[in-house]
Amino acid sequence: MEPSLAVDAPSTTRERFVLRRALALPASTFAEDVRRGLEASPKFLLPHYFYDALGSALFSAICELPEYYVTRAEDEILRTKAAEIAAAFGPNVRIAELGSGSARKTRHLIEAILDHQPSLDFFPIDVDAGILASSSRDLIRDYPGLSTTAICGDFRDPAALLRPYLPPSDTRTIVLFLGSSIGNLDPAAAGAMLANLRTALAPGDALFLGADLRKSPSILEPAYDDPLGVTAAFNRNVLVRINRELGGTFDLETFAHRAFYNEAAGRIEMHLVSKIAQRVLIDGYEIAFDEGESIHTENSNKYDVATLATLAAAGNFRIERRWSDSNGYFADLLLVAE
Ligand code: SAH
Ligand code: TRP
Repeated sequence: MEPSLAVDAPSTTRERFVLRRALALPASTFAEDVRRGLEASPKFLLPHYFYDALGSALFSAICELPEYYVTRAEDEILRTKAAEIAAAFGPNVRIAELGSGSARKTRHLIEAILDHQPSLDFFPIDVDAGILASSSRDLIRDYPGLSTTAICGDFRDPAALLRPYLPPSDTRTIVLFLGSSIGNLDPAAAGAMLANLRTALAPGDALFLGADLRKSPSILEPAYDDPLGVTAAFNRNVLVRINRELGGTFDLETFAHRAFYNEAAGRIEMHLVSKIAQRVLIDGYEIAFDEGESIHTENSNKYDVATLATLAAAGNFRIERRWSDSNGYFADLLLVAE
């Protein structure tokens, strides 16, 4: 039998999947953000624009790369510690997930939670409506106890997205933020985002946060610059998107992917570097590039005990527990709302 499916329709008791658009309008559009970023000095683009249908597919491919240890490390934690983690969540929970993507790793937690309670409400949040629809459909097919309300929107204002769907309840709310997506925000913005999230939670609710740990550049750099060129394709896809959606004239051959570990800042930086001096037209305006000039497309901040403590404190959360993989590459933390 087909799973019941409703898109932007009121939920009834029989539907186990609803997809909703964020109620608040985005503060700016793709066109505005691109123009603002490319007219700035140095030039930048916002990382959530990587994730259209092709971008999400390329990210799934990144997760399979031998060099991209991040997904495997977190998967090991969630697979081997699922029962312990679910016990720490407690007996009666609902879960939301920021940047849920394929939600593949989330399955370990869903299964462990459903070992303790007969049903579970799941609120995945992502900018890519396509991946929300496909992942939710797969999840409700595989877990009869699961009900999914998918919310398409920008997780940088999580309280606005979640508040309408999380009325006060005896059920403990656990917000998952996996894959070290927090690290794609600068430290100040990450702290502000957790503080914002905290306002939609009750004391005792919790954030389950995945954080990639500082390690040798010889491990970090290939994870963001793989020899197959999948990460390069993922990075350059944002230019494909500008060409398609905004009528841009980027010649992809003339932009190189560059990723390196900035040791002082404790972050991987990703750039698109213009190999030549050139002008690019977008939607009637022109952007000039010098030879070697870069567009900064993403940071991936890496954490240690001190930076994690600062982050938790900025959000008004207390670190209750922490799990690591066998290599010590990655940590998942249970942060309890004070
Ligand atoms: N949680 C998954 C996917 C991580 S990739 C994992 O751990 O493997 C990051 C995901 O977050 C993508 O699905 C992307 O579409 C989404 N995303 C990135 N920036 C976002 C933003 N600002 N708001 C909402 N979703 C975002
Ligand atoms: N949160 C992921 C990370 O920082 C996102 C990511 C992985 C990513 N690989 C990437 C983003 C390559 C841009 C390019 O590890």
